[in-house]
Amino acid sequence: MKISNLHRFVQIAVTASVVSGVASIANAQDNDSLVLNGEIEMVTRTAAPAYIDGLDEVISGWHFRSDETQALQMDDFDNSGMLGVDAGQEAWDTVQGPEQKSCASCHGDVSSMEGVRTVMPKYNEEAADLWTLEDYINNCRTERQNVEAWGYTSGPMTNMAALIAVQSRGMPMNVAIDGPAAPFWEQGREMYYTRTGVLELSCASCHEQSAGLHIRADHLSQGQINGFPAYRLKNAKLNGIHARFKGCVRDTKAETYKPGGPEFHALELYVASRGNGLSVEGPSVRN
Ligand code: HEC
Ligand code: HEC
Repeated sequence: MKISNLHRFVQIAVTASVVSGVASIANAQDNDSLVLNGEIEMVTRTAAPAYIDGLDEVISGWHFRSDETQALQMDDFDNSGMLGVDAGQEAWDTVQGPEQKSCASCHGDVSSMEGVRTVMPKYNEEAADLWTLEDYINNCRTERQNVEAWGYTSGPMTNMAALIAVQSRGMPMNVAIDGPAAPFWEQGREMYYTRTGVLELSCASCHEQSAGLHIRADHLSQGQINGFPAYRLKNAKLNGIHARFKGCVRDTKAETYKPGGPEFHALELYVASRGNGLSVEGPSVRN
């Protein structure tokens, strides 16, 4: 890899790890275990899926955070992301629009969404396109409730995505990458390994080759999305997947893609597939 560029950008603190290579990097995260509310045991590391060449093990971003940040995610009372979940629940039950319907009018209790997050994004036959959880939510709003679509990365959308993610907490991510999803997955993989921007960095430069290293004040993870939406201490709100992608692309000083656009759809499928087997954690707590 072009380590000179990475250096210039990230001012890597752990020079020893760079010199000694990937072997030492693999041990750079802790061995704590994530048990939610003292109840739900999360799979936060597991064997990498066979189709991922660059990793032996896939590891949740939770492992790369400080003890304090980790603790915030271990109990719902301490997890500020749960406030978004509460707001999502209120929206779920709110009757609105010309049809005078709430989400609950058709779907009943939100527990009916159990498992939904684990398979997103997925190919939608009718639309002949790859749909994210956000697309399904907005489709129900515009086509079934006859109300306006939510902005793709808006607060209400991210809150609803968090509420739906919660119904699958602890279940393994399990997106399909074959059949009609295959071309999207290929496109996403291509994007993941393509160096872009002034710094000529790919997602893999940081999240595959350099996972475990410290950059500035941060500890580089594998860039997994099983924890999304993620409550970030940095901006004190829930953040959706495409908003995070946008920030990372921008950090490489490249033109970024539009959240909700086709490129980030493909990238989301690929990144999700890299975490197949990890538990759904949303809403997670991150820096
Ligand atoms: C008029 C009835 C109706 C309303 C109102 C409605 N939905 Fe749906 N929704 C459906 C139907 C029908 C489907 C497709 C069949 C299915 O998967 O249940 C669906 C599918 C979905 C899916 C995809 C589920 C999956 O397994 O793929 C999600 C997510 C969803 N709806 C969320 C919502 C949310 C959030 C709201 C409120 C903002 C809402 N829906 C409002 C009828 C409705
Ligand atoms: C210059 C290095 C760099 C590049 C290149 C980069 N990221 Fe990141 N990314 C970071 C840092 C730093 C963080 C915050 C710490 C962490 O979780 O790794 C982060 C976090 C993330 C997270 C959140 C992980 C979690 O558990 O909350 C995701 C998802 C992510 N990146 C995806 C991507 C994708 C997809 C690309 C390629 C489009 C990319 N990143 C490119 C540095 C980078």
